[in-house]
Amino acid sequence: MGRLTGKTAIITGAARGQGATEARLFLAEGAQVVMGDVLDDQGEALAAELGEAACYLHLDVTNPDDWTHAVKLAEEIGPLNVLINNAGIHWVCPIEEEQPDKALQMFSVNALGSFMGIQAVREPMSRAGGGSIVNISSVAGMTGIHGHSAYGMSKWAVRGLTKVAALELGPLGIRVNSIHPGPINTAMLPDRVRDNPDTFSHLPLGRAGQPEEVAQLALYLASDDASFQSGGEYIIDGGGWAGHPPRNS
Ligand SMILES: NC(=O)c1ccc[n+]([C@@H]2O[C@H](COP(=O)([O-])OP(=O)(O)OC[C@H]3O[C@@H](n4cnc5c(N)ncnc54)[C@H](O)[C@@H]3O)[C@@H](O)[C@H]2O)c1
Repeated sequence: MGRLTGKTAIITGAARGQGATEARLFLAEGAQVVMGDVLDDQGEALAAELGEAACYLHLDVTNPDDWTHAVKLAEEIGPLNVLINNAGIHWVCPIEEEQPDKALQMFSVNALGSFMGIQAVREPMSRAGGGSIVNISSVAGMTGIHGHSAYGMSKWAVRGLTKVAALELGPLGIRVNSIHPGPINTAMLPDRVRDNPDTFSHLPLGRAGQPEEVAQLALYLASDDASFQSGGEYIIDGGGWAGHPPRNS
């Protein structure tokens, strides 16, 4: 028996990166997985590779009709127990240069998209007897990071949304938690950052994380092993949040 046997999961932003890795791990643990993204060619190819328990659909997390289709598809497969709100966009831009319409776009995908996902699954998950929602925030949702005004606004919102959803959905048997990754080795990290070994020397573990490491945490929170965890925030950042590095480093 896998840790997610009998459960159906929706994972957003699953065509690549952390979402794709979570899909792979959840399938290995017995789940049926509905993978959503806007990168349709990549998502369809991955789902075909992952086998019959995986399927892909176009899910722009800012589009309510797409959410309706995703939930319908998941319920045709099995009881909907898990949602991973993973889709996200990121860029770095100083406040004086950030455009309000661009900041709003970031907020729509990262924060409002998670909110719409929670709204869409609330009732079916309750009908399924409960479940787990995991919202992927960031360390940028725990503290300020220079150049991250739009991203930080969106990821702090995800953290706050998680608390409210935990309060409102707990009585339905739905747990809601947030994950706060530090730098993770995916396409979201610019090449110049990923390829420079010095970039992460300030972190106690001295490196970026791998998507597999975040996926293990998402698996734990999605599974019944975390049956009493709700409203929590889980930092996974190689120790960066522990405090300040030595002054000369
Ligand atoms: N990589 C990091 O260093 C890092 C650090 C902290 C948090 N995160 C968060 O982790 C999550 C996953 O990011 P990743 O590292 O895998 O990066 P990624 O860019 O590889 O993956 C993000 C995925 O989200 C998808 N996406 C973008 N807009 C979408 C939309 N409107 N609807 C549906 N899907 C959409 C993209 O197509 C992509 O497949 C994101 O929420 C990101 O903000 C990443």
